[in-house]
Amino acid sequence: MGSTVPNEDVSILVKQLSTIKASNIQDEAARKSLFEAARNATFALETPGDTIQRITHASLQTTMARIASDLALFEILSREDNRVLNTKQLAEITTADEVLLGRLLRYLASVGMIEEVGENQWLGTETTKTLSVPGLRAGIYHNHDMIMPCWQALPKFLADTKYQNPTDPAHCAFQEGHNTEQMAFQWALSVPSRFDNFNLWMAATHEGQNTFLDVYPFEKELCHGLKPETPLFVDVGGGIGQQCLALKQKFPHLSGRVVNQDLPPAIAQALPCEGVEHTVHDFTTKQPIEGARAYYLRNIMHDYPDDKCIIILRLIMDVMDKDSVILIDDMVLPNQGAHWRQTQLDLLVMAGLAAMERTERQWYSMLDAAGLKVKQIYTYTPELRDSIIAAVPR
Ligand SMILES: C[S@@+](CC[C@H](N)C(=O)[O-])C[C@H]1O[C@@H](n2cnc3c(N)ncnc32)[C@H](O)[C@@H]1O
Repeated sequence: MGSTVPNEDVSILVKQLSTIKASNIQDEAARKSLFEAARNATFALETPGDTIQRITHASLQTTMARIASDLALFEILSREDNRVLNTKQLAEITTADEVLLGRLLRYLASVGMIEEVGENQWLGTETTKTLSVPGLRAGIYHNHDMIMPCWQALPKFLADTKYQNPTDPAHCAFQEGHNTEQMAFQWALSVPSRFDNFNLWMAATHEGQNTFLDVYPFEKELCHGLKPETPLFVDVGGGIGQQCLALKQKFPHLSGRVVNQDLPPAIAQALPCEGVEHTVHDFTTKQPIEGARAYYLRNIMHDYPDDKCIIILRLIMDVMDKDSVILIDDMVLPNQGAHWRQTQLDLLVMAGLAAMERTERQWYSMLDAAGLKVKQIYTYTPELRDSIIAAVPR
């Protein structure tokens, strides 16, 4: 049994913890290690009653964040710094019933999304502001509307399929949860607001993060003897073209073609950028650009089970030449000790797409089955271990 902690020491710890803020810690690695330690400490401090409350009510936070966003509460409370609003004022602005609103606000304050500074007095905090940022707000909608029904359906789906690893995107928890025959992307694309939320959320999750250009020696590896007509970079399933834009911004002087490929709805919303060709291409069909230096796929492979990844990769391998490389930009999970942010994304793509995030060993195995060999893996985010896997035909 560990030694007991005297009450005075507990008081000192409580005081220290209550003043800590992310913005006060300059070193990001230090902030992360403190965050993980504090998180583990809260688990260690729980009684069984605390544990069961935390786990069984986790999804309520998403639901309540969605309702608060519908009422624009986070936006309203973030609009003016340090302005306290009472329940009556908020009821007038939102037109929600005052008693109902009081109950919602009480919950939001009790889980740290807003602050309760007096009886029926509410204040926006840094967390409130975070929840009002458009891309993160879109994440609340995306996770509530698209993902939560999958979580609801997952236990029955896995039991019905005798706990086999899902590999059919047309028959996974997504179809059960949404009572649809559509696959996740079709479902998202069929209603503009769903697709907008998805795109905004995807962009927000990458914002301010390192990118592959921070670690991959692009010029050294790919840019020898370039001519203006050489296909330099093809972003396969590149969405609205953020990575092509980032590439052009980092290397404006490079000649060679930069091509973004995606389905029509994404191309219709593509970011205009001089020198970037936005083209409609379905990556389950023949790749139209032959002999590109790099075929880049960010967050594509993790949307598919192995057999579909292999089909997509072989269509690219068919048109590669001796100078071509496939650059897969996805998380590489460690073979042991994956981070909780990695494991939750793995289950998300499993429930929604019958897909998977792969451990390093699983990447090697899938790419080997496709006929590719890994040249090198370059990791550019510490927690999620987003990485570039540079691969060439064996
Ligand atoms: C997870 S998003 C990744 C987008 C982009 N690569 C990024 O990292 O920002 C998956 C992308 O694949 C596109 N997509 C899905 N199926 C596709 C297909 N059959 N052909 C081409 N693009 C497809 C989607 O429209 C979406 O933009």
